Amino acid sequence: MKRPVAAFAGLGTYSPGKILTNADFERMLDTSDTWIRERTGIRERHIAGPDETVAVMAREASLLALQEAGLAPTDLDGIIVSTATPDRPLPSAACDLQALLGATNAAAFDIGAACSGWLYALLVGESLLASGFAKRLLVVGSEKLSAITDYTDRSTAVLFGDGAGAAVLTASDGTRGIIAGHLKSDGRLAELLYRPGGGSVAPPSEQMLKDRSYFIKMAGREVFKSAVRSMADAADRALEQAGITGEQVDLMIPHQANIRIIEATAEHAHIPMERVFINVDRFGNTSSASIPLALDEARRAGLVKPGMTILLVAFGAGFTWGSILLRW
Ligand SMILES: CC(C)(COP(=O)(O)OP(=O)(O)OC[C@H]1O[C@@H](n2cnc3c(N)ncnc32)[C@H](O)[C@@H]1OP(=O)(O)O)[C@@H](O)C(=O)NCCC(=O)NCCS
Repeated sequence: MKRPVAAFAGLGTYSPGKILTNADFERMLDTSDTWIRERTGIRERHIAGPDETVAVMAREASLLALQEAGLAPTDLDGIIVSTATPDRPLPSAACDLQALLGATNAAAFDIGAACSGWLYALLVGESLLASGFAKRLLVVGSEKLSAITDYTDRSTAVLFGDGAGAAVLTASDGTRGIIAGHLKSDGRLAELLYRPGGGSVAPPSEQMLKDRSYFIKMAGREVFKSAVRSMADAADRALEQAGITGEQVDLMIPHQANIRIIEATAEHAHIPMERVFINVDRFGNTSSASIPLALDEARRAGLVKPGMTILLVAFGAGFTWGSILLRW
């Protein structure tokens, strides 16, 4: 097991107050609460209002993380934001967040790895600490998926929610922090889960709103199968690196996309469901905000204790996937 170089000094989250329930979807689309719960495990999701931008949600989560770390925004030397839904195409969400925080001493940039993005950002952050480039980093997942969700498409509309989570990452004392990490991608599968329009190949147009190509498209069944396979593999890799088995994991915090994907991953890794934290029922899939939102909620519920071994595991568009083992 490697000696950790990066550890969490603070964690914070933000969830919009507006909630969209399955009953709301029953009024909007040809769907049912039973179908949604049985196929996904989702009951409701938080939806951002016009003033709850990706940068604003990120700021709220970041201020809580900084407060816990006992740091001011000006103490940060780096800000990494993972998002698939930046407030505007240019500049990065991280630069918008930097301005809102007044974090004038930081280098700020975004990471694009969809739902796996927060794990990508944490491992990039770990490398920046290990190389000596940075000493105090903010690593954020902030998403406004409602902005790119097609609310006329029942197969995707019911899945997504909004929110943000942030961690302050600093040098480890050598006992706690990131003890293993694995990242992988397969861009050949990009068009199974993507947004065809709105980029530089197909700039926004009226036609795009009519044919719905501005919004997320997904081949649900194929994505489901790949997610199960990839999250299982990611869990194996982190456990192998650390030289432990699933039985030795105290808590698994998976990406919250679908309860059936989570159950399959846990079963593969031999982690009983009592040691898996789930909040997909109340948040839906918040992409790269989902793991920090779940980790923070688990912590506030008293489920995270010093010395625990925690497995984070994610899968997302790209396809991208990954895992991190933490000694808390
Ligand atoms: C989206 C998902 C829940 C659909 O479940 P599924 O069992 O695969 O269902 P299918 O897509 O095969 O569709 C089965 C039927 O349900 C219907 N259906 C789809 N969404 C529905 C909804 N919200 N309500 C009712 N029926 C719905 C389909 O139209 C289809 O009907 P048909 O048989 O008449 O054509 C599932 O595929 C899934 O979770 N995929 C992974 C999604 C994900 O997590 N993506 C993010 C990864 S980070």
